[in-house]
Amino acid sequence: MAIAQPATRPANPRFSSGPCAKIPNFSLDMLADAPLGRSHRAAVGKSKLAQAIDLTREVLGVPEDYRIGIVPGSDTGAVEMALWSLLGARGVEMLAWESFGEGWVTDVVKQLKIEAEVRKAPYGEIVDFAQVDFDKDVVFTWNGTTSGVRVANGDAIPADREGLTICDATSAAFAMDLPWDKLDVTTFSWQKVMGGEGAHGVLILSPRAVERLESYTPAWPLPKIFRLTKGGKLIEGIFRGETINTPSMLAVEDYLVALKWAQSLGGQPALKARATANAQAIWDFVAKTPWLENLAVNPAQASTTSVCLKFNDPRIKDGAAFAKAVAKRLEAEGVALDIGAYRDAPAGLRIWCGSTVETADVAALMPWIDWAFNAEIEAQNA
Ligand SMILES: Cc1ncc(COP(=O)(O)O)c(C=O)c1O
Repeated sequence: MAIAQPATRPANPRFSSGPCAKIPNFSLDMLADAPLGRSHRAAVGKSKLAQAIDLTREVLGVPEDYRIGIVPGSDTGAVEMALWSLLGARGVEMLAWESFGEGWVTDVVKQLKIEAEVRKAPYGEIVDFAQVDFDKDVVFTWNGTTSGVRVANGDAIPADREGLTICDATSAAFAMDLPWDKLDVTTFSWQKVMGGEGAHGVLILSPRAVERLESYTPAWPLPKIFRLTKGGKLIEGIFRGETINTPSMLAVEDYLVALKWAQSLGGQPALKARATANAQAIWDFVAKTPWLENLAVNPAQASTTSVCLKFNDPRIKDGAAFAKAVAKRLEAEGVALDIGAYRDAPAGLRIWCGSTVETADVAALMPWIDWAFNAEIEAQNA
């Protein structure tokens, strides 16, 4: 017997965790003011880059004495620059609870060959911050995009730490509160919560991170693309929009459009509220659905951007095949694109709930998950 389909569909089926949905009502016409074909070092290019930095500071509430730079290589570029430029001066702790955090562990342990203390938690959990020695440099991911867990707050990070905290906040920034006084290096890319384009990363440095850069020279060589200092001094121009190499002015314009949209809503608190409402729409559905669970074990650590779900039903024979088939049905119906769990994560669904996603669309998707689940159960047991 065919299972009846829900009457309404999400107006926008884009629930990918990166690149993420563009801002509501986005159109390419909005980018008409991009200074295409002009030098990024001309006054017009520089002023666009400076504006992107200024608006980032304003929307995120970054303290005046923190530097904000636009760097190559998206979030990965920003994280790598920080790891290669800063680590090695003192002991290091690497914290990981999903695929991206594990990637940073590999870099530090295998590439930089630092004998770091590595703390890992399984998918769905995070490491116990009470165990961490913050007198070492500590590298961690604020929101595990592939596991749907996040650091609830920065309370466990001491204000008077000796080490630096280096935080990959790419799927958290804008949608979650970031405690700037607890973060020495913060990175993100535009393609996540702001629905921007891939290409550039943002690197935010506390005064202590700058002090480290100016007082410590790593033992290994640094390619030009990672270099933040010259003659032992910070290259201040990078933090005024004089990028290391050529940026995409189209991507910059697109980011500016998203930042202005964020401002028009009321800034970061409004962005956070949108993501939280989106995640809540899923949590409400999970609460009344016996065969669906949040991958996050502790609700206080459940992500409000990358919500990861797993199926739990004794009738499911092959969990990975089942989850894939459900995602495929939803995609074929045009109600949800790109919501299969990340390739290294436990089988299930991952639904992006970042600020550019409309809550009505998340709510409209839930009955479709019910439909796809039941249709697939029927098909597998036919
Ligand atoms: C936590 C985390 N770190 C790093 C990355 C890599 O980001 P990018 O592709 O922007 O370099 C991602 C991408 O999904 C991510 O989720």
